[in-house]
Amino acid sequence: MTPSYPEQAVAVLFSGGDAPGMNAFLRAIVRLGLNREKIAVLGVRDGYRGLVRTARAVNGDAEALMRLKNAIASHPGRAGLINDQLDLIQMDHASVSGIMGKGGTILGSARCLEFHEKEVRTNVIHLLKGLNVRALVVVGGDGSLTGAKLLATESDLQIIGIPATIDNDLQFTDMALGVDTAVNTLVWAVDHFIDTARSHRRVMVLETMGRASGDLARMAGLASGAEMIITPESGALKAADMERLAAKIEGAMTRGRGHAIVLVAEGVEFDPPQKRNRAYVLMDAFQQYFQRSGAPFPDLEVRPSVLGHLQRGGHTTPQDCILAARFADCAWINIGRATGKSGVTALRKNNIEIVPYGEPDMPERAAFSREMEQLHDDLSSW
Ligand code: F6P
Repeated sequence: MTPSYPEQAVAVLFSGGDAPGMNAFLRAIVRLGLNREKIAVLGVRDGYRGLVRTARAVNGDAEALMRLKNAIASHPGRAGLINDQLDLIQMDHASVSGIMGKGGTILGSARCLEFHEKEVRTNVIHLLKGLNVRALVVVGGDGSLTGAKLLATESDLQIIGIPATIDNDLQFTDMALGVDTAVNTLVWAVDHFIDTARSHRRVMVLETMGRASGDLARMAGLASGAEMIITPESGALKAADMERLAAKIEGAMTRGRGHAIVLVAEGVEFDPPQKRNRAYVLMDAFQQYFQRSGAPFPDLEVRPSVLGHLQRGGHTTPQDCILAARFADCAWINIGRATGKSGVTALRKNNIEIVPYGEPDMPERAAFSREMEQLHDDLSSW
């Protein structure tokens, strides 16, 4: 039998910085589509970039569109995944088997600057309509969901956004996909640094990711027992602030603490601004303070480390796999509704909801961050 192209499909893409849980989400959206809704899912390779590439190749030509549909139909599942000429793959059960806990995304993710251009988005909308796509699911962080919002405003397609970013900087949801795994990875990393910090009685300054948000550093600090967390929410650091932080570490050392782990979020700024990584700027400031004349611990050494992309990889935690399944469930419930409304899934007070794009920030998010920071301070003071 000649394979046929689905009469209606839901497309899914992963965009921006990858986040653990993306594969678990893909598995869930595909399996729920096939098992519950009987609707095919087209996986898009390389996020918006894959759609832009394909729209450009088809270029509004009816025959090219037909050829593309035939290519998709004749390369389902794994055959499509290994054919790197194909940016849209009709996913089947086998193609999402065994991927649940794997970090990254088997479909690939990318940042796509071209997508800022309206004309490029219009071509993508034509492509999706030509492919009989009834809904597009966009999984990613802030920039990716802004792209999704634009598509939702500029077309009558249903566009469902799924928050996935280790930064946890989306203020409409308590948690984004990937955060729990990244926090676990950071706790693992801090444990390793503690071993060596303790042996050498050193101060370790570790820089976490998170863009302008301190959530990752804050959660990892609380969960790992790191002695100090420095987050962007506390404002730009002046020389006097860094001295105060160094004095706090030194004070604890005089009371018996043997080492210190300092987590600094990458969004922390300095006044005056500094070009170097935060971990290095703080190392110099702390070292200078510890070596001032008459200091109690002139031999106290500081070592910096920028943890980088390590935080984006690794085996997805059960918590993230569960969140992925719940987000996928919520997406399908809304795709199944006759209203065809666009929106983004959110975790709020342990419920999964769909909220409109551009929802105002939840004020309790900022309050919660402050409380967590205070809690950390109370727990780590010595
Ligand atoms: O948004 C996720 C994130 O990992 C940020 O924490 C970080 O600043 C950025 O992406 C790094 O981006 P790239 O992978 O392009 O270097």
